[in-house]
Amino acid sequence: MTKSAGHEGIRRIGVSTGGGDAPGLNAVIRSVVLAARDVGWEVVGIRDGYNGVFLPEQYPDGGLIPLDAKAVRGITHLGGTIIGTTNSGNPLKYPVKQPDGSVVETDRTEELAAKLRANGIDAVVAIGGDGSLTIANALAQKGVRIVGVPKTIDNDLSKTVATFGFDTAVSFATECLDRLHSTAASHRRVMVVEVMGRYAGWIALNAGVSGTADVILIPEIPYDMEAVAAKIQERYSQGRGFAIVVVAEGARPKGGGFSVVEKKAGSAERLGGAGERVAEAVRAATGHDTRVVVLGHLLRGGSPTTFDRLISLRFGAAAVRALRAGKTGVMVALDPPTVRYVPLAEATARMKVVPLDCDTILTARELGICLGD
Ligand code: F6P
Repeated sequence: MTKSAGHEGIRRIGVSTGGGDAPGLNAVIRSVVLAARDVGWEVVGIRDGYNGVFLPEQYPDGGLIPLDAKAVRGITHLGGTIIGTTNSGNPLKYPVKQPDGSVVETDRTEELAAKLRANGIDAVVAIGGDGSLTIANALAQKGVRIVGVPKTIDNDLSKTVATFGFDTAVSFATECLDRLHSTAASHRRVMVVEVMGRYAGWIALNAGVSGTADVILIPEIPYDMEAVAAKIQERYSQGRGFAIVVVAEGARPKGGGFSVVEKKAGSAERLGGAGERVAEAVRAATGHDTRVVVLGHLLRGGSPTTFDRLISLRFGAAAVRALRAGKTGVMVALDPPTVRYVPLAEATARMKVVPLDCDTILTARELGICLGD
């Protein structure tokens, strides 16, 4: 590969990890650093999203972390992100306190673009989900050379077959469902298992089908409690004296809203409580002993699966390749057997939810799993 220091004017690139962490972030960072080293570019990690350039005074060691080959040694298999992340203080909706105490969400991406330039950052690899990549798109429009990498356990980004982190989350949720079967059966209980995924049911559906759940409730199909109760009663009357109900955190009853815990300026709304809401309704409708398990942030921890490691490494190298080819405003996307580039604007235009006619939904129905309708 030809060395090209200053290739297209790039000497130094910044890497940012934004939003909720996901297994595979460190593998992407390592891949970016090693691929950039190959063309003679210096790499710095921007701490906690863009806080490292926005609020450098918060960091006694500086808001930028020099990333050389040594700094990324032995991190491919580690969960989390060595440069930190945040899902608050979105620069497109930055919370600014007003004299009267109220908070107004303000677009600070122009200022962010200037700060990146002032820090000698010629190009950025932005690793994130829809929120972070929407910010990346805004930065691209302000002249920042930027390439996005699709991260999220939720798998809700359009234009890529998969985001990294999703496979690990689904694998762990499936393992949990396997473990819950024996305790559910021993106690003749209904186990309600809430999983993350925001407004998309990918984790619930894939883990639920793989973990042989009896009921799977996803945001795409508002549920009817009568159908859910009927399925549970059928299991008990057939002698299968227990049931496993998987509930996406974004699941909601027909005519009802999402279970929202909190909404703060500059942050996405926080979901929670969908499992408890279903469990209460199950108890009321069936009278069966029912327990709730919320897998929550456990789905974001641990080592990435082989699949996630490999796509993370491929995404990181492909992001550097894109910058070398002079691309900007694009996201690296998985399109087996290859990785391609799609405009950030297209990737973030609409959320990728579970299509109701997809094969996994059909499979669930054909296996007799109740989807709440
Ligand atoms: O987007 C990833 C995700 O884990 C969602 O599944 C979940 O709704 C959200 O982040 C939780 O975010 P927080 O870290 O603020 O609890």
